[in-house]
Amino acid sequence: MPERHHVRTLGPYPRMALVVRGWGLEAALASALFALWRVGVALDGNGLGVLLLGLLGITVWRSNPVRSWLAGTLGRRATSRWFTRVLIACEVISRRGSLPRVEGSERIPAGRRIRLRLPPGLSAEKIEEAAEPMAATIGAREVRVLRDPANASLAHLSLIFHDPLSDAVPPWPVPAESLWEPISLGIDEDGNPVSVGLPERNLLLGGEPGAGKSVALSLFIAAAALDPAVTLTLMDGKQVELAPWTGVAEHFVGPDMGEAIEVLKDLCAQMDRRYSVLLDQGLRKIESDGDFGLHVVAIDELAFYMRSGTKDERTELSERLRDLISRGRAAGMIVIAATQKPSNDIVPTFVRDLFSFRMALRCTTPEASDTILGQGWAKEGYSASTLEPTIRGVGWLLAEGAVPVKIRTHHLEDGSIADLARRAETRRGRR
Ligand SMILES: Nc1ncnc2c1ncn2[C@@H]1O[C@H](COP(=O)(O)OP(=O)(O)OP(=O)(O)O)[C@@H](O)[C@H]1O
Ligand SMILES: [Mg+2]
Repeated sequence: MPERHHVRTLGPYPRMALVVRGWGLEAALASALFALWRVGVALDGNGLGVLLLGLLGITVWRSNPVRSWLAGTLGRRATSRWFTRVLIACEVISRRGSLPRVEGSERIPAGRRIRLRLPPGLSAEKIEEAAEPMAATIGAREVRVLRDPANASLAHLSLIFHDPLSDAVPPWPVPAESLWEPISLGIDEDGNPVSVGLPERNLLLGGEPGAGKSVALSLFIAAAALDPAVTLTLMDGKQVELAPWTGVAEHFVGPDMGEAIEVLKDLCAQMDRRYSVLLDQGLRKIESDGDFGLHVVAIDELAFYMRSGTKDERTELSERLRDLISRGRAAGMIVIAATQKPSNDIVPTFVRDLFSFRMALRCTTPEASDTILGQGWAKEGYSASTLEPTIRGVGWLLAEGAVPVKIRTHHLEDGSIADLARRAETRRGRR
């Protein structure tokens, strides 16, 4: 049986309602101005009418709150009328002929964000089906539709007119002294800043050579180094990437399996000591004003440590690392690891799943991307293998939200890193 044809036209009543809703305030304001002019004319002729209008105009212009309220309201209503026409053109209409209502609109660095209240019968999924026609209608790069997580009758549309991720990301806002505060990581596809809080988290970064892992890692190391209460352990299979931070690190391990195992053993022992202290103090986890600070363990080129040495050494190392990641959270031990070769032998699933935050920078295959983010994300459209290879530092970040967010990290040049390292050494009294 052929599918019943949907009601996809606006009847005369909804059109009238649209006009009243879309122009009602403007009509009321125009009537009020006309009435004021008429009062002036009635009292003393046209001159007084014009004078009254002029005085009102000057009063509004000189009053900042009234002026911005008026400009904001009229602007939002104009956007609402414009977008309502777009919805009609793209047939985003319920079966009963009702249109979504534009409830809010704001500028974002990439274009504009619009909040829609959906009429009965429509869902964010249906709106998403019209994303491409809507983008074509308004001449945008893309229209992204996101269902409100708390309310299915609300949809958030990002109208993207330019891609902020292809532009240079704004300079890194050097964080406040405490690592307990969120760290700015970069910007998202809408151009909005993205921050992450490290306490009680571990972070895994993966991506092909040159994708931007070490740059991202350096943001976290810099933030940790600038907080004198934080202890830093650095492990660098390449040695050169983290070298600028040697002056602030408690341990710096190069490409040396034996030393890496010793340091990890020491870290696990430190973790146990911390738990003993917490137990004595009747606490379940460390606090920002507690006896000991956070301890950040940054590992660049995890693949080197997971692949080098003898089989026994590798087993010992991955066991210590797993222990540190799985139990370190409440003791303030934070592991941030970067790997060039995101495959199961480097990051076994049971280790990957212990990292609550993950970021997949550009990868060569969807499987590699899933190794970092988790099984199934590539199929859902979140694959780091489709990222533009020439735009470095872009990746999918799976952190606070339920789904990965595409971001581009801030970029610290070698000069800025050296500068920040010097600043951190000074703060720690090592200079
Ligand atoms: N967010 C960014 N913005 C601009 N350029 C970036 C960004 N991130 C990285 N780059 C550029 O990409 C280059 C490679 O970055 P990075 O050294 O972090 O890669 P990597 O993933 O660590 O590579 P490898 O696996 O070879 O160590 C940097 O030298 C820098 O020029
Ligand atoms: Mg690197």
